[in-house]
Amino acid sequence: MVVPKSEFISTNVWRDDLFKSKVVFCTGGAGSICSAQVLALVYLGADACIVGRNVEKTEKAAKHISTVRSGARVIGIGAIDVRSFDNLKNAADRCVRELGGIDFVIAGAAGNFLSSINQLSVNAFKSVMDIDVLGSYNTLKATLPYLLESAAKHRVDPETLTPAPTGTGGRIIFVSATLHYAGQAFQTHVAVAKAGVDSLSNNVAIEFGPQGVTSNIIAPGPIANTEGMERLVSSVRRVDAFKSEPLGRYGSVRDIADATVYLFSDAGSYVSGQTLVVDGASWRLGSIGRVQNYPDPLLSATIFTKVKGMKQSK
Ligand code: HXC
Repeated sequence: MVVPKSEFISTNVWRDDLFKSKVVFCTGGAGSICSAQVLALVYLGADACIVGRNVEKTEKAAKHISTVRSGARVIGIGAIDVRSFDNLKNAADRCVRELGGIDFVIAGAAGNFLSSINQLSVNAFKSVMDIDVLGSYNTLKATLPYLLESAAKHRVDPETLTPAPTGTGGRIIFVSATLHYAGQAFQTHVAVAKAGVDSLSNNVAIEFGPQGVTSNIIAPGPIANTEGMERLVSSVRRVDAFKSEPLGRYGSVRDIADATVYLFSDAGSYVSGQTLVVDGASWRLGSIGRVQNYPDPLLSATIFTKVKGMKQSK
């Protein structure tokens, strides 16, 4: 089935061949947010390699993404655990062998569940740290040689400040979150991990900026119809929680895809070491994990029920 363009990217904003002959490598690429990011890039001309732990899910997502543009080359590599550097190195090398290079990287694999510190085992904390922090580091390490190659080919001229005629390249986006900005209940493991991911991105921007690499964070807020939201707050959605968001709605995966396209395009050339929060100001109001402070008692009750049932229902 062909996906209508308006579902995954803002129409009439981006040029259709913006990323022609560019290659994106994405971890967590079968997930709702990352597959939407890749879908938009592929629609705009890129080829893609997505990797994930689940073989069937990853291959299915790659097939789906490839339908978005005729002639698109999209590889799905399953059985890749981002906690293994060797797994990622093999996948990145295969991507380059089959697609010719890596211009853009999206480090999107993440682990997430609600748990109070009381119930969280040391191993559960470590699992999320390993998936998010070590996984992001492994993704960077495995793709860095290729990102540097691409950056060298696509540099903005430092004298004239004109973009390279070959377009853009050498860019990485880490997908983070907003839940560590203020402190939240039941998300300590994820918050600590995301703070680490943010720090990684900032350091990459400084260390490899001189070679033309840009590194940024996209921090999504509550995004509708994603597995993460479904699993974390499906009970909340039933009581129309989106109405109490600052913009009166949740975000869509298209909102995240548009931000991704911006950061990888010419328009994002001088943006590095930044966090682009795409959350409709949600975190400023206090978000889903801050249940004790949530203004709506019904919401608090449903979230508490969800959290208390979480460990048993795993
Ligand atoms: C408490 C849990 C648990 C849960 C797992 N564990 N689920 N503890 N509550 N719901 C514990 C296990 O008991 C175990 O500890 C340890 O975690 C490791 O679990 P494993 O089953 O061995 O799985 P593992 O392969 O290590 O992966 C762990 C995982 C991961 C983190 C649960 O599979 C996962 O998160 N998958 C979901 C991926 C996902 O949805 N990603 C999108 C994230 S969205 P013990 O002590 O028993 O050995 C996102 C957005 C954030 O990140 C912002 C949201 C607002």
